[in-house]
Amino acid sequence: MASNSLITLITGGNSGIGKSLAGLLVADANRHVIITSRSIDKGNAAVEEIKGLKQPGKIEMVQLDLTVPSSITALAKDIETRYGRLDALVNNAAIADFPPNTPLPERMETSFKANVTGPLLMLEAFWPLLMKSTTTPRIINHSSGAGSMQIVKNMPDWAFGEVPIPYFSSKAALNMVSCSWMLGHRGEDYKMFTYCPGFTESNLGPHNKLANGAKPVVEGARPMVAILDGEKDAEHGGFLNHEGGQHPW
Ligand SMILES: NC(=O)c1ccc[n+]([C@@H]2O[C@H](COP(=O)([O-])OP(=O)(O)OC[C@H]3O[C@@H](n4cnc5c(N)ncnc54)[C@H](OP(=O)(O)O)[C@@H]3O)[C@@H](O)[C@H]2O)c1
Repeated sequence: MASNSLITLITGGNSGIGKSLAGLLVADANRHVIITSRSIDKGNAAVEEIKGLKQPGKIEMVQLDLTVPSSITALAKDIETRYGRLDALVNNAAIADFPPNTPLPERMETSFKANVTGPLLMLEAFWPLLMKSTTTPRIINHSSGAGSMQIVKNMPDWAFGEVPIPYFSSKAALNMVSCSWMLGHRGEDYKMFTYCPGFTESNLGPHNKLANGAKPVVEGARPMVAILDGEKDAEHGGFLNHEGGQHPW
């Protein structure tokens, strides 16, 4: 099935900021948004919620577990077969929270598989399809100020118990995925952004609540619409924050 719309793939689109972004993007009749979900039930529920917004853009869901490389290559094959190209990739999904007493090696391994290796494998698998985009392909690697050496070194305090080192270090590694990807693809026709939404309401962890000072989910998601619409193309390669500025690496 060919599509004339801008095909936009958002990992982890069944929840939080990814789902909110999908809901914003379908306001554009020219967007065809594909969200990924580990759970088919959660993904279907998100699609129903987004369809309930009665917006003109298209929405669909595909199953994906970023910790399973074959899941990524199978999805790339599926998108290639059905659409032949991809116009935008939002490497949004991540894990930060684990059940109590999860051993540190497991927290480190899963965080890196989901938050670093998975997004890199997504870039590898979807790059050929992004290069077939009929417009300038745009990529967002959804990171965090928690992955910035300078921000973490200068944090006055951490209010939420044990510092989640697996999450912080995985986001720092994701930042290097962005920078080194760009080094290997200089001069090619695409735009890549690393993005931090700031502290936002979501299911990322137990503290991501409005009552703890998190901002409404849509405020973390909305700046990515402008990025995907090309309004930030002049900042290609930057570590953009939700306030319209840039974070230090
Ligand atoms: N919220 C914040 O304050 C904040 C701040 C800075 C950066 N961020 C970043 O924002 C992005 C979105 O997070 P969020 O806050 O919206 O949290 P969220 O509500 O927990 O959403 C995370 C999404 O990632 C998915 N996911 C987790 N592990 C996965 C895996 N192995 N394979 C595929 N999908 C997986 C989750 O699926 P399940 O529903 O199945 O778990 C969920 O759909 C993340 O990259 C996060 O690091 C968030």
